[in-house]
Amino acid sequence: MAKAVSVEQQLEKLRGEIRRHEELYYVNDIPEISDREYDALLERLQTLEQQHPELITSDSPTQRVGGRPVDGFAQVVHRRPMLSLDNSYNIEELRAFDQRCQRLADGRAIDYVAELKIDGLSLALHYEKQVLARAVTRGDGRIGEDVTANARTIRSIPLRLRENRTNSKTSNLKSQISSLKSEIANLEVRGEAFIPRKVFERINGEREEQDEPRFANPRNAAAGTIRQLDPKITASRRLEMFAYDLLTGDRKPFATHWEALNWMEQAGLRINPERVLCKSIDEVIEFANRMEARRDDLDYEIDGLVVKVNSTALQDEFGTTNKAPRWAIAYKYAARQAETRVLSIVVQVGRTGALTPVANLEPVVLAGTTVSRATLHNPDEVKRLGIRIGDWVLIEKGGDVIPKVLRVIEAKRSGAEKIFRMPRKCPVCGGEISRPQGEVVSRCVAADCPAQLEGRLLHFASRRAMRIEGLGESLVHQLVDSGKVHDAGDLYSLSLEDVAGLERMAKKSASNLLAQIEASKQRDLANLVYALGLRHVGDRTATTLARQFGSLEELSNASVEELDDVPEIGLTVAQSVRDWFDDEGNRALCERLAAEGVQTKMEKTRHPTDDSFAGKTFVLTGTLADFTRDEARAAIEARGGRVSSSVSKKTDFVVAGEEAGSKLDKATALEVTVLDEEAFKKMVS
Ligand code: IVH
Repeated sequence: MAKAVSVEQQLEKLRGEIRRHEELYYVNDIPEISDREYDALLERLQTLEQQHPELITSDSPTQRVGGRPVDGFAQVVHRRPMLSLDNSYNIEELRAFDQRCQRLADGRAIDYVAELKIDGLSLALHYEKQVLARAVTRGDGRIGEDVTANARTIRSIPLRLRENRTNSKTSNLKSQISSLKSEIANLEVRGEAFIPRKVFERINGEREEQDEPRFANPRNAAAGTIRQLDPKITASRRLEMFAYDLLTGDRKPFATHWEALNWMEQAGLRINPERVLCKSIDEVIEFANRMEARRDDLDYEIDGLVVKVNSTALQDEFGTTNKAPRWAIAYKYAARQAETRVLSIVVQVGRTGALTPVANLEPVVLAGTTVSRATLHNPDEVKRLGIRIGDWVLIEKGGDVIPKVLRVIEAKRSGAEKIFRMPRKCPVCGGEISRPQGEVVSRCVAADCPAQLEGRLLHFASRRAMRIEGLGESLVHQLVDSGKVHDAGDLYSLSLEDVAGLERMAKKSASNLLAQIEASKQRDLANLVYALGLRHVGDRTATTLARQFGSLEELSNASVEELDDVPEIGLTVAQSVRDWFDDEGNRALCERLAAEGVQTKMEKTRHPTDDSFAGKTFVLTGTLADFTRDEARAAIEARGGRVSSSVSKKTDFVVAGEEAGSKLDKATALEVTVLDEEAFKKMVS
């Protein structure tokens, strides 16, 4: 018994330490240890938990990405509706808001809190006894969707709130804090989940590489991410959250909003540091102007400010309309849009043959940078916009680095504009174009299209692939154009003369390039798998595959089933990998690369240790006495099994606790094996 206690203590200590470092990193942005040291701590915890799966708790830092894909989201009625805000678009409207508040306050002084209005999506987090119990989207304001599994992957959302220290900021609040403690069983935090700009750019880059449409802005990306059925995808997207509101039951626990913000910060939630407590609307305006100038320096998108009356008593008095509170207002910054002319429309051919129409624009300055091109994405978008060469268009810069065309300004048409049509043949090689039903992209299907080859070579040489520095667009074009390179394998047999003979290539830079190509032979197998450019295989997936199979040869021989069995690999990827290796040309390329001495092996690091449940699907229903849902799930997953939310013929076991409901009936009807708690315990022991 003594031993068990000490393991528990070890676990709790380790978890506490990891939580502290997570908070320093994700919430306060002042890490004390390196990523490597953090990973080592987490790995120690994982190992210890694997040895004692019965001691895994749902708020353990290892349990952020525990969830399996779900079939859909349950609906949740908000305890209090999540209202929206009235908008103001200029200083006069902001002053009018102040005057309305002054009238309602009838002589009492009003303080305002001004915060940034983050461009993301709002989430309500329910904490029960300090532990995150549920996360709900805003939905229509009255009913939202339960996205708990996804919210758990957001590192700035604590799985457990910290016991609040009463420090100087909240010292006059002792009584409120103790009353809060009694209500702490039932706490709701509201805030804005968002995708940082850098991550947004990375995601869009990856989507482009995988021929998926780009997200128009970080808000769409965040909304799409929180509604992912597979929490692993959400986890990879690196959402974050700033909390901005605190409720207990049906009232606000603090006398002022400012104190609530500080309390939440103490509890380990991330609160935007750019906030001010203002004595007058003039101070609010000063903050608004200051932040507008700094808007581009923030690493997240904002679309303005939110101004709130600080006193919660006044908030209650002012009340709400059925749409928005009377004690708060959004102050929106001017959109970053401009008008310019379309000089021409060209069609680019990417490495997968995808045809992308791009508008060349008369250069115009937008939010500090000169814009001269905008992507038109695909033929449907061109049709939707009805864009003609010579048109005046309204363009907008959202969070994306690439601006987009919002609409054509038809009033400015002179009649001289030329209609643009997508080409019927590949604009580079003249090859056939195909557009499979249901897809938005048209592709050149010619096997020998030089534009595709150039795209593939650039991808092969790119930073996250084989990292061949100096091999840029113009060189690749010359190598292909001169017939010196027909595939990535040819790069490795280039001679000094081959390269030195190219335009703008001095002997020195030629030998540098050859040295870079030589060095790339030593890249990891993961880089190589990514470099090969298989459809649906981004760099994360490439790493998973490389680690799992350990060599290009083993990977190339894996069956669809074997691939599908790899954690994090789904059927689409499995099929795409198999198809790629079934192509004779691709196999020849792999052999050639190996013959040239490119590294095609790496150490395997597979995850599950105990795989006694491998391939088995479980469904949990009812309440178990000795396991929470999460613990039961963890116990199954630690043994390589998977948990599904609904019973079907494919289900292997239904674990039925007390008060099991319709799932048990369905299991009986489908003759699925039902385990009671005793039987389940035996299986996992
Ligand atoms: S307070 C009743 N504070 O803006 C008050 N909202 O247009 C509710 N938002 O749905 C909101 N940053 O998603 C508040 N600092 C902030 C915010 C914020 C972004 C979003 C929120 C809300 C929307 C209203």
